[in-house]
Amino acid sequence: MESVKELKNPDKIFKDAKDFLPLLGIDYVEFYVGNAKQSAHYFKSAFGFQSEAYSGLETGNRENISFVIKQEKIRLVLTSSYKSNSAVNKHWDKHGDGVKVIAFWVEDATKSFEETVKRGAKPYMKPTKEEDGNGYVIRSGIHTYGETVHLFIERKNYNGVFLPGFVKWDSSYNPESIGLKYIDHIVGNVGWNKMNVWSKFYEEVLGFSQIISFDDNDISTEYTALMSKVMSSGNGRVKFPINEPAKGINKSQIEEYLDFYNGEGVQHIALETDDIVYTVGHLRKRGVEMLYIPDTYYDTVIDRVGKITEDIKELKKHGILIDRDDDGYLLQIFTKPLVDRPTLFFEIIQRKGAKSFGKGNFKALFIAIETEQKSRGNL
Ligand code: FE2
Repeated sequence: MESVKELKNPDKIFKDAKDFLPLLGIDYVEFYVGNAKQSAHYFKSAFGFQSEAYSGLETGNRENISFVIKQEKIRLVLTSSYKSNSAVNKHWDKHGDGVKVIAFWVEDATKSFEETVKRGAKPYMKPTKEEDGNGYVIRSGIHTYGETVHLFIERKNYNGVFLPGFVKWDSSYNPESIGLKYIDHIVGNVGWNKMNVWSKFYEEVLGFSQIISFDDNDISTEYTALMSKVMSSGNGRVKFPINEPAKGINKSQIEEYLDFYNGEGVQHIALETDDIVYTVGHLRKRGVEMLYIPDTYYDTVIDRVGKITEDIKELKKHGILIDRDDDGYLLQIFTKPLVDRPTLFFEIIQRKGAKSFGKGNFKALFIAIETEQKSRGNL
């Protein structure tokens, strides 16, 4: 029985999808963190983000402090709170540093809210107009897995730096970009037997289509196992794989996440680069730790993926993984957790035609993840 389903013609599926919710892209991803100032410094220094906007006491915000950082089309917001019983701090106390908001850029935030709520979404924020001297935005939002939310951002009548309430963040410290371009996909970890619940949510409520699925025959090693479905927005601009744990001899890596995050949430954000060797070289120089891939991976990888244009010695030196599908190949690497808990990490990905997500690397990768999990006493 074929257990992996990679749908052959995603373009047709996108066309057929009922696109009642045109998403122009991911507007921003907001992390709730313990110390926004230090987080912003870390992401600038280590990952080459640039200072963009700020909100805090100086701008009249007496509850929260946010730093907005940017690299090409990737915008991150790092938020912490001055108040001990605030929503931000309650979230942080429970989950540690992690993703709270995945915001979509839309034409019409009111319609996006109405259409999704009509289809069963739980409201998080009613359409709200926010304005300053630069115009106005309308934001609205719905809940998704765990305590994560989706906001809809309508900014066609706004020309300020980010959102009303924010000022430009002028910083003399702006380390060079490392070539990250846009968010390729964002992965959610959900609980036992919840993958189908949440993939159905994306299908019915947001009009996404399933483009790939893997079951535990594909994604398992002796110990760790998971199942995954990849959901894509109607126009293909937003892709969300959804993982759930599967039974293995011992604890699944997804369970470890769920234990430490205290529930469902974002596991990793994949960032696209046009030159992964350059990007990863800089990340390593700046002290970003990557999952260690055994040298033996490179003994057989070319037999599996065929001809590639990169120098395999360079890929081996950096621990970059390679996989191929019908459309081409891809190069990818995974950081160790970015935060204190073994929860959130980044993937760096370079696509050379491939539209898939690196299934051929799962085994090598999971052995590496298990090694780390074991060192934390969680296997
Ligand atoms: Fe990924």
